[in-house]
Amino acid sequence: MSLTNFSAGNRPAAAPSAGVPSASTLAKVTMSALAQMKRQTKPITALTAYDYATSRLVDEAGIDVILVGDSLAMVVMGQDNTLAVTVDEMLHHTRAVRRAVRRALVVADMPFGSYHSTIAEGVANAVRFVKEAGAEAVKIEGPRAELVAALSSAEIPVVGHLGLTPQSLLRMGGYRVQAKTADAAAQLRAEAQALAEAGAGALVLEGVPREVAAAIAAELPIPVIGIGAGPECDGQILVLHDILNLTFAPHAKFVRQYADAAALIRAAVERYREDVEQRAFPTDAESYHLPAAEAIAAPARS
Ligand code: KIV
Repeated sequence: MSLTNFSAGNRPAAAPSAGVPSASTLAKVTMSALAQMKRQTKPITALTAYDYATSRLVDEAGIDVILVGDSLAMVVMGQDNTLAVTVDEMLHHTRAVRRAVRRALVVADMPFGSYHSTIAEGVANAVRFVKEAGAEAVKIEGPRAELVAALSSAEIPVVGHLGLTPQSLLRMGGYRVQAKTADAAAQLRAEAQALAEAGAGALVLEGVPREVAAAIAAELPIPVIGIGAGPECDGQILVLHDILNLTFAPHAKFVRQYADAAALIRAAVERYREDVEQRAFPTDAESYHLPAAEAIAAPARS
């Protein structure tokens, strides 16, 4: 098969919404496309998504990067933090997302424990995300330049993640804004530089003062995608369930809620329940019928 003959499968083209080009008419986002966006100072848009339906919508809405985040442990599986989600669970969700997405870059989060012992184990698990789930990059948390270098030599694009790293919850003793002193900021800058030099293609910077994130975005050659890191980053990422009000929890200062899907879903489900209870659903038009020649006796109602 020709290397230039990329096939996105036989799914019909998405219907574009007003003003939004259909995902199928746009070029696939790659790690080098993100680098080019940074050079052109074009903001990179990123969101998490964890299943076929929502990733398809996120992709059709023109978001550049879809992260199958380990936040799914909390927002999809109802756990208290991200620590318990397994490689197999992350692979399951990444596969569903990859099937839905045509344009966005699909990044899979490597879960806690899948790259924390040996470099070889980290590479082997990352290979699973590419081979078994179709991930186009993996994200790892923490200042792990040696692992980033090993993944890069294994031809696996890597997104680093520094600042507030949720997988360090037990060590940090809570989710706290990081790099709040000049010394901590200098250390974070050095760690970011080391990841970029080791071959990371992009960096997620979470929960750090705006000024620190701005300095890192300005000095790093790779795109810096912020979450709770201020507007000077090269792009922004948020958790889909946060922007749609689907988390059942008060949201952090950096979250902006764009829709109330909870209210929408609750209202729709209540209307369905009422219709069924009042026998208003289904109607005759929503029922199948026997052909006239196959008439049967009407049942006697007890
Ligand atoms: O898992 C996640 O949702 C993340 C964030 C950076 C968005 O890692």
